[in-house]
Amino acid sequence: MKLNLGCGSHIPDGWTNVDYALGARLAKKPFFRTINKKIKFFKLDWNEKIYLHDLTRKLPWADSSIDTVYSSHTLEHFNKEDGRRLLSECQRVLRQGGILRIVVPDLMYEVTEYIEGRTLADDFIERLGVLNGTTNRTLKSKLTTFFQFPHKCMYDNSRLIEIFNEIGFDAYKKNAFDSDIEDIHVIELEGRTQNAVIVEGRKR
Ligand SMILES: C[S@@+](CC[C@H](N)C(=O)[O-])C[C@H]1O[C@@H](n2cnc3c(N)ncnc32)[C@H](O)[C@@H]1O
Repeated sequence: MKLNLGCGSHIPDGWTNVDYALGARLAKKPFFRTINKKIKFFKLDWNEKIYLHDLTRKLPWADSSIDTVYSSHTLEHFNKEDGRRLLSECQRVLRQGGILRIVVPDLMYEVTEYIEGRTLADDFIERLGVLNGTTNRTLKSKLTTFFQFPHKCMYDNSRLIEIFNEIGFDAYKKNAFDSDIEDIHVIELEGRTQNAVIVEGRKR
């Protein structure tokens, strides 16, 4: 069994695609679907097959029952403690030798871009994605960012590898699509691998 945690709209076959977005939850309620058809407030084209689970909570799978866990651009939406708990939960549910692969924005890349003058000082914090919503205060932008969440933690390759090691993985920095996951071309999105930290580990 293979888990794709924080799948968003990327829900490849052969994977259990997990998310807990409000839209994904409402999409499963026929009443909301009907109302929303009229007012079109929520994006409800979330696939019905998404496995709903709040990833700040214990994962609903038994110890050592999972072969592979993949998660792209999701861990940074959890604070440091919740993120660490999620990674430990991945370690718990993976079988020995099971694979965990995490892709997140690279803090080192963003800081280097700033230090070397390619990102302007007043754009830097916005680029980190840590602000709540947009700095543009128009009503439309407020509404469209109401359901978006900022990054609550950021990583670089060496720190994420260290965390993997502490939790019980042998872990390595990886390039896009370089993986022991057989169907990596199905689960990994090229655009998500750019300027990103990619760490893959096997449970000890
Ligand atoms: C930036 S999107 C990444 C989507 C996709 N993996 C990608 O790389 O394009 C982050 C996803 O994590 C989900 N997410 C955030 N917090 C979550 C939580 N507590 N439980 C489950 N999913 C969560 C969001 O709903 C969203 O779909």
